Amino acid sequence: MNWLNDNVNLLTLIGAAAIIILTVGVAGKYIKQMKTDKATGELTGDNWDGIGEYSNELPYGWSLAYVGTIVWGLWYFFMGYPLATFSQIGQYNDEVKDYTARFESKWANPDKETLMGMGEGVFLVQCAPCHGITGDGMGGKAADLTTWGSEEHIVNIVLKGSKGQGYALGEMPAGLLDKASATAVAAYIVQDLAKSGKSKHPELVAQGKALWATCGACHGMDGKGMGGSAPALVDYGKAQFVVDVLNRGKLGTIGQMPKFNDGRLTNIQKRAVGTYVDSLSSEE
Ligand code: HEC
Ligand code: HEC
Repeated sequence: MNWLNDNVNLLTLIGAAAIIILTVGVAGKYIKQMKTDKATGELTGDNWDGIGEYSNELPYGWSLAYVGTIVWGLWYFFMGYPLATFSQIGQYNDEVKDYTARFESKWANPDKETLMGMGEGVFLVQCAPCHGITGDGMGGKAADLTTWGSEEHIVNIVLKGSKGQGYALGEMPAGLLDKASATAVAAYIVQDLAKSGKSKHPELVAQGKALWATCGACHGMDGKGMGGSAPALVDYGKAQFVVDVLNRGKLGTIGQMPKFNDGRLTNIQKRAVGTYVDSLSSEE
């Protein structure tokens, strides 16, 4: 324990020692006085069956200790521990930070199996209450994640629009393309732009690329989201994209998903659950 290095502890100790010294000194003085002194001085008017009371001033030492204690108490409360540096909540938060750092370094380079296991655990606790244990969105209560990242899912978003993540470009309007063109663009995104998988319609990729300008206007011709103005679709269908959604929350067309950027999930847990969500559609 290096508690003597702590200024507040040290001052508390000095204060306590000063109070003891003053008390012993003052008490000793009066005990001695009681032994040797003849009672003299002015009496107050009160008299209880012959017992009177002297009207003496408050002993100087006691007054000093009394005022000193008040001053010290105020200093301690406002500038010492309670309202300043130390609190149990602060200590708790520090410990949590410490454990989070250890957690992150322990799992700094997880293999895919570890990520999937951790991701499933996080999903069941944090996401399943809304998205359902299987991730199917419980009949439209939340987004159906079993198709997340797939071409059908992209088509669905193009037809319905997307909103609520708070990007600089705001909402993505619904119905930018008809279903056939959206299917082609989705093929291009999956197979060429994000390279997240093989398209089910490889013959449409070239057509989708030709249509990409409609989307590139906001998402950037390179699909990188124009410096954060819109989602980076080069990441679509990958764990990183889910992490982006988690950090922003989504107040979308069917409801609200809270932000997960308040520290309740560590970065590695977000990546893990992203990997898990991504696997929900690719497993089929
Ligand atoms: C007017 C600008 C604009 C255009 C044009 C546009 N987008 Fe978007 N897009 C956005 C914005 C902004 C978001 C994020 C909206 C939100 O959820 O808050 C978004 C979101 C998305 C998402 C969903 C991201 C998620 O969180 O699930 C997909 C997929 C997508 N866009 C694909 C496309 C495709 C494909 C096209 C072309 C047909 C396109 N976008 C055209 C602005 C645009
Ligand atoms: C309180 C309920 C709730 C919780 C908890 C929740 N979500 Fe959501 N989530 C939603 C809703 C509602 C939407 C759909 C928003 C919209 O577009 O209307 C959504 C949308 C999403 C999307 C975007 C899908 C798309 O098509 O763009 C992803 C990805 C997602 N959630 C992943 C997760 C993950 C991973 C977790 C757990 C860490 C989670 N969600 C926890 C309610 C929730």
